[in-house]
Amino acid sequence: MSQPEPSVPTCAPGGLDRREFCACALAVAAAAAAVSCGGGGGGGYSSAPPPPPPPPPSPITTSETKTSLLGQPSGTVRDYTTTASGACPLILGAAQGYYLVRDSAGIYAFNASCLHQGGRLNTTQTGFGCPCHGSQYDLNGTVTVGPAPVGAVLQHYQVSESTPGGVLLIDPSKPVAATTRLT
Ligand code: FES
Repeated sequence: MSQPEPSVPTCAPGGLDRREFCACALAVAAAAAAVSCGGGGGGGYSSAPPPPPPPPPSPITTSETKTSLLGQPSGTVRDYTTTASGACPLILGAAQGYYLVRDSAGIYAFNASCLHQGGRLNTTQTGFGCPCHGSQYDLNGTVTVGPAPVGAVLQHYQVSESTPGGVLLIDPSKPVAATTRLT
């Protein structure tokens, strides 16, 4: 047998002073909320399963091998940034791609999204720069001039060989310390 729906009380304005009427109105509102939310014990919330997590980003296949890039001078930069979103105007949170770099200690890669508002970094004579508001970065991706926070470092990602001696992969699902180098 089905349970009768809980009823919502009403406040008749006649015979109530202002304070009593306000208290009554609050009680009515609370009762109405309990009814609409299934407060009678039936549980009005659905339990739909949460959406599955997004798949991890796929590694980026570069055109360099470890031997070929280590054969280049310190300061060599390879561009794996994207042109899909454009550096400016900004699309906050948009992935701007990656830079693959060789310095005197080895090979590394980092995110090319500016730490200010996500603009896509360009290469400069001393490192990298953001065309949006002028932030500057050194070769390791450390902010040297704001408005991005000076001293902050772009996220570095694992660089590995696809096979022994094969082309290098940048794996955005594997963040590493900014001191990590492939040698
Ligand atoms: S987004 Fe790079 S300086 Fe503002």
